[in-house]
Amino acid sequence: MKQRFPLSYLLLPVLLLALLLPAGCGRDAGIQTVRVGVALYQQEDTFISTVAQNLELLAREEELARTIKMNLTLADGRGSQSTQNDQVDRFLAQGCDIICVNIVDRTAAAVIIDKAQAADVPVIFFNREPVMEDLARWEHAYYVGSKAEQAGRLQGGIVKNAWQADAAALDQNGDGVLQYVMLEGEPGHQDALLRTEYSIQTLTQDGIPVEKLANDTANWQRGQASLRMSQWLEEFHGQIDVVFANNDDMALGAIDACLSAGMDTASLPFIVGVDATPPALAAVAEGTLKGTVQNDAAGQAEKILDLIGAFIDGTPVEDAVELEDGKYAWLPYTTVTADNLDAFL
Ligand code: BGC
Repeated sequence: MKQRFPLSYLLLPVLLLALLLPAGCGRDAGIQTVRVGVALYQQEDTFISTVAQNLELLAREEELARTIKMNLTLADGRGSQSTQNDQVDRFLAQGCDIICVNIVDRTAAAVIIDKAQAADVPVIFFNREPVMEDLARWEHAYYVGSKAEQAGRLQGGIVKNAWQADAAALDQNGDGVLQYVMLEGEPGHQDALLRTEYSIQTLTQDGIPVEKLANDTANWQRGQASLRMSQWLEEFHGQIDVVFANNDDMALGAIDACLSAGMDTASLPFIVGVDATPPALAAVAEGTLKGTVQNDAAGQAEKILDLIGAFIDGTPVEDAVELEDGKYAWLPYTTVTADNLDAFL
């Protein structure tokens, strides 16, 4: 005689599985569900958390516009590539339809691209740019970001304009040379390398005499930047005309150090950043930060969603998003100073 089980016994394993699967990549009955796994290199990074918030916001809008369910799962790599690789494995095992990767180590992209290709899942990198050879490994590997060189040129342009308008106002020791310190982002990050190079090149190519007093990495972080700056203030007392910071958090760290060393807004060096984060915009309004360059977090999130939309529709991605070399979706940077601040607040 056949053994008979009550229905609840049969459903138990299914219910258990549903509980074990994270919401983002589970299976939903009824309306179409799109599962998107988003791997972040470090969720507490100010700029990255802004991109992530924009992605979540836009995903909700997309759900309403398309009458679908979009399960967006965020994973924090906490600065470890092997943790992030495990997270990507999990996304793929759980049936994600698309993965978005803010890769920890730019040189490790090939591993992730090969995994995504084997699962036939499109992969959209953002903010931390893999090398072209890696992106070329697979048709459905893309990059959304902004050109670091442009940020460097625009940041240099803010300083150049100020120097050309009134060099004496910047030149703390009156020697006719622009002395600067450079607070750099993570070593090896395209934005750290290129912003550093092109900010200075923008000055030298116009014949402005510059002297580098010091440079060091502060890994994009406000606290580390404040420490470096405190040391430099002691070492180069009264000599620092300009502080170039590869991002706003580090620029704010430099301001923290100057203020705790007893300076006031009028006696601060000319400090510039990149990103246009809300606290940086507030500092521009106060006059402690002389300028920044908007890194378009909302625009980058929008492009990512446009690519996802094309995958959902099954239409050619080039019809939805303008791509360079079939791979790169670029967002422009924009200069922000006290003169045009209102447009960004
Ligand atoms: C941003 C930094 C951020 C970094 C993370 C850069 O584009 O300007 O603020 O820390 O990306 O990868």
